[in-house]
Amino acid sequence: MAVARGPDVAGSRAVTGARDEGDPVVTAYLAVPGAAQMRLLGTRIAGLLRAGDLVVLAGALGTGKTTLVQGIGAGLGVRGPVTSPTFVIARLHPSLRGGPDLVHADAYRLGSRLEVDDLDLDADLDHSVTVVEWGDGLVENLAAGHLRISIDRPQPAGLASGQAAQPPDGAADQVRRVTITGYGARWRAAASELTATLAVPLG
Ligand SMILES: Nc1ncnc2c1ncn2[C@@H]1O[C@H](COP(=O)(O)OP(=O)(O)OP(=O)(O)O)[C@@H](O)[C@H]1O
Ligand SMILES: [Mg+2]
Repeated sequence: MAVARGPDVAGSRAVTGARDEGDPVVTAYLAVPGAAQMRLLGTRIAGLLRAGDLVVLAGALGTGKTTLVQGIGAGLGVRGPVTSPTFVIARLHPSLRGGPDLVHADAYRLGSRLEVDDLDLDADLDHSVTVVEWGDGLVENLAAGHLRISIDRPQPAGLASGQAAQPPDGAADQVRRVTITGYGARWRAAASELTATLAVPLG
């Protein structure tokens, strides 16, 4: 596997490699120190996104998935506000500048792939960027390729295994570990663009 390293940036590294369709084609790891930087990351990722793209967000409660989507919405220039879609499964944010709309979905309460299919989300997929919180393993079939973004809250040292690291937190900034993986031909074609975008420090 050919491996290329992005520029050396504190807290961030990227690895690219050619794989078969369906396998990950590019993976990047970032440390994101606070909510503002998570929004900035979303804004930058939005610069890579186009109509038909699917972004799957993974990560425990309160790790910053919606915060990232707020940045994606700002970067796409869609009508806000982007908030947690608690009482609806999906919300459509129309573009304010003739670009793709944003479909923001939360699959937290969905049990199965079938229920996601029932959402009829794919009706808008071709004209929208679709971002699904908790969509891991449920929605990948909605598009030929996807970007998977996983957010982790690093475990503080000294916690017994099985003990909750921290409850879902409030607004206090804490570092998050973000893993971004592109799948399919769409992201193979955009791998170097993604790597370059993510190599820019978040400040
Ligand atoms: N580095 C960080 N990145 C993102 N959010 C952070 C960070 N540090 C602290 N926060 C805070 O963590 C919270 C994240 O909330 P958010 O609603 O985005 O999480 P979520 O993953 O969407 O939650 P849920 O699983 O309930 O949908 C916010 O209050 C935000 O201010
Ligand atoms: Mg959320």
